[in-house]
Amino acid sequence: MIDIGLDIKIQKTNQSRLPEIDFNNIPFGKIYADHMFLAEYQNGQWSDLRIEPFNNLNLSPAISVLHYGQSVFEGLKGFRSPDGKEVLVFRPEENAKRLKDSAKRLCMPEVPEEIFMTGLHKLLDLDRGWVPNVKDSALYIRPFQFAADEYIGLKPSESFKFIIFASPVGAYYSEPVKVKVETEYTRAAQGGTGFAKAAGNYAASMYPAKLAAEQGYHQLLWTDGKEHKFIEESGTMNVLFVINDTLVSIPSSDTILPGITRRSVVQIAKDWGMKVEERPVEVAEIISAIKDGSLKEMFGAGTAATITQIALMAYDGIDYELPAVETREFSNKLHAELTGIQRGLVEDTRGWVYKI
Ligand code: COI
Repeated sequence: MIDIGLDIKIQKTNQSRLPEIDFNNIPFGKIYADHMFLAEYQNGQWSDLRIEPFNNLNLSPAISVLHYGQSVFEGLKGFRSPDGKEVLVFRPEENAKRLKDSAKRLCMPEVPEEIFMTGLHKLLDLDRGWVPNVKDSALYIRPFQFAADEYIGLKPSESFKFIIFASPVGAYYSEPVKVKVETEYTRAAQGGTGFAKAAGNYAASMYPAKLAAEQGYHQLLWTDGKEHKFIEESGTMNVLFVINDTLVSIPSSDTILPGITRRSVVQIAKDWGMKVEERPVEVAEIISAIKDGSLKEMFGAGTAATITQIALMAYDGIDYELPAVETREFSNKLHAELTGIQRGLVEDTRGWVYKI
């Protein structure tokens, strides 16, 4: 049981924006709930824990994060319980842990789990009205931490800010996606920051993703930086396959983000008695599985993406159509199970749902 007993100063908004929101028509990531949680790291400790109305930050142009990208973030989702009374948050303790791992790699102090969980709990308690009650919608929660020293020499910052805000969202992808296997650019190299949810990883991925978008692909399928031979991840999600009757999932590594949704999918499949292999996957294996018909399903798993079907994979100038989405028995059933657990419609037997 997490202690959420920390003292947090709360300043409430005197003008909620909630009445202006049409929850039946929400884009991803453009609307923000009324409040945000903040904490400051100075002189070796986190302090000044507070909740304030969501507002712009007042920052110096010399602030270190703007120049050297010392910044890490998280993404998690909250859902409204079927009786409408509770906010259900999916595996937030895992996000708190991953944020610490990311912070360590970026030479930043860890945000203690108690601060993460207390901030999250009190913020969502206050902004519970912002959790949508509409199919495929959720309250997306964005914790992040960044270097706050005013200094333009290159060195690790000594002061940091940790902030959590929330955004009611619709689906991240509104249709099955087309992905292009990237064999020129590299998302992450061994010994780099690929496993961390570091802002810079996402910045570096945008140019190649834009080139692919110009060719009609929604996302890239990143390959290893050494030989471009092994599939890694898709930038906004981990990627999984059903080959014959086996779920194949690429394990986390120092170049792949350790996805909480991916791990949850693997656990559900194992609990269902499905054959599961966690192992590296070569592009060549997938191409030959597409050709001989043994590739039955291919999908992405992530917080924002949830379970996103992959309809087409492009490699070396050729578009490979994948099996029709309606035929994908495992991932369709999995989608219903996972979203059912998240929304409190399916019993949470694994202790994954945190209730507020
Ligand atoms: C998430 O799924 O939470 C992410 O951080 C992906 C982001 C690029 C939207």
